[in-house]
Amino acid sequence: MSVAKSPKPRAAIAAIPAHPHSALPAPPPGALLLNTNENRFGPSPAVYAALRQDPAAMGLNDYPPAEAAPLNAALARQFGFEAHHIVSVAGGELLLPLAMLAFTEPGCEVVTFDDGFQKFLNYTLTCGATPVAVPREADPTGAIQAALTPKTRIVLIDNPGNPTGWLLSPETIAEIHASLPSDVLLILDEAYVEFSSFGQFGLDLARDHRNVLTTRTFSKAYGLAGLRIGWAAGHRNVIEAVRRVIPTFPIPRPSLIGALAALGDVDHLASVTAEVGRIRDAAQTRLAAAGWDVAPSAANFLLIRAGRHAPEAVAEAVETLRAANILVRLLPRFRNAPAIRMTLGTAEDMARVYAALKI
Ligand SMILES: Cc1ncc(COP(=O)(O)O)c(C=O)c1O
Repeated sequence: MSVAKSPKPRAAIAAIPAHPHSALPAPPPGALLLNTNENRFGPSPAVYAALRQDPAAMGLNDYPPAEAAPLNAALARQFGFEAHHIVSVAGGELLLPLAMLAFTEPGCEVVTFDDGFQKFLNYTLTCGATPVAVPREADPTGAIQAALTPKTRIVLIDNPGNPTGWLLSPETIAEIHASLPSDVLLILDEAYVEFSSFGQFGLDLARDHRNVLTTRTFSKAYGLAGLRIGWAAGHRNVIEAVRRVIPTFPIPRPSLIGALAALGDVDHLASVTAEVGRIRDAAQTRLAAAGWDVAPSAANFLLIRAGRHAPEAVAEAVETLRAANILVRLLPRFRNAPAIRMTLGTAEDMARVYAALKI
């Protein structure tokens, strides 16, 4: 009897690690989610007001605008671009495989930092490219320079980094960019940048050079992770190439309505990011005083290591929080030691965390 053959994914796809979320049970009702870096303050009230209209008036039977054109135009106006500098899709993460598909070929190399966003590896492998990971801490520019070969096509940097929250300064990013050959694309993933002091430097770099793509999202500082909206800025040629691989109608109508409303409320964005900054300072001080090693963060989350505690205390703290219905992310081996990545919640959320940890 012959054994039926079944379709086999490419070897590179089979090598991609499963996403940790796929192994997780659904969160219990009422759980405080500090494990996925959303924004616990929520979006601008203007978003809810805009979405409260009669659904029939939204035109749900028609496709939304091609290429999310109204959003591209609004982003261009707000950040000082022409619309041809912008591409928008359903989530900032989606921009990564799409940009990689546009700019890599099998066998080429993609350079990242070894403490960077886990999904960089997945998408590099998806494209049949070879991942090259270098350390960020001591000399980021030198480490990237040393990794460049004639096969390098993309240098991909999350800034601030996930899961560390660590921020490279505009000067360092400019230095890294200046050290790259002009045919290597620098992708700056700025998912958390609004929580930092970095400002618009990455967007301006993308506008002013032919080899930079800077990605942003509405999932974090704008509090709209549920609507799935991401965008990127770059030179016309870079954006044109990415637009060739995006879907025709990349963002659903309700999400477009929400994004435009959120973009218009700059005061809400400023007050949420300022409040997260205050909560971050307080949490860093409080956790450090309780003996935890907390990495300096420019994002809306903290990387917490054992510090003066035994390494086992890290997993125990995760369990203690889980028993209080608070979910944080355990990283069993970050730089060979356990760590916690904890999203910063509201002051009330953090009070629940401190009470559960008795600190
Ligand atoms: C570094 C980084 N880039 C991109 C994303 C994806 O964001 P989005 O929700 O826009 O897909 C995340 C989400 O956690 C992230 O941490």
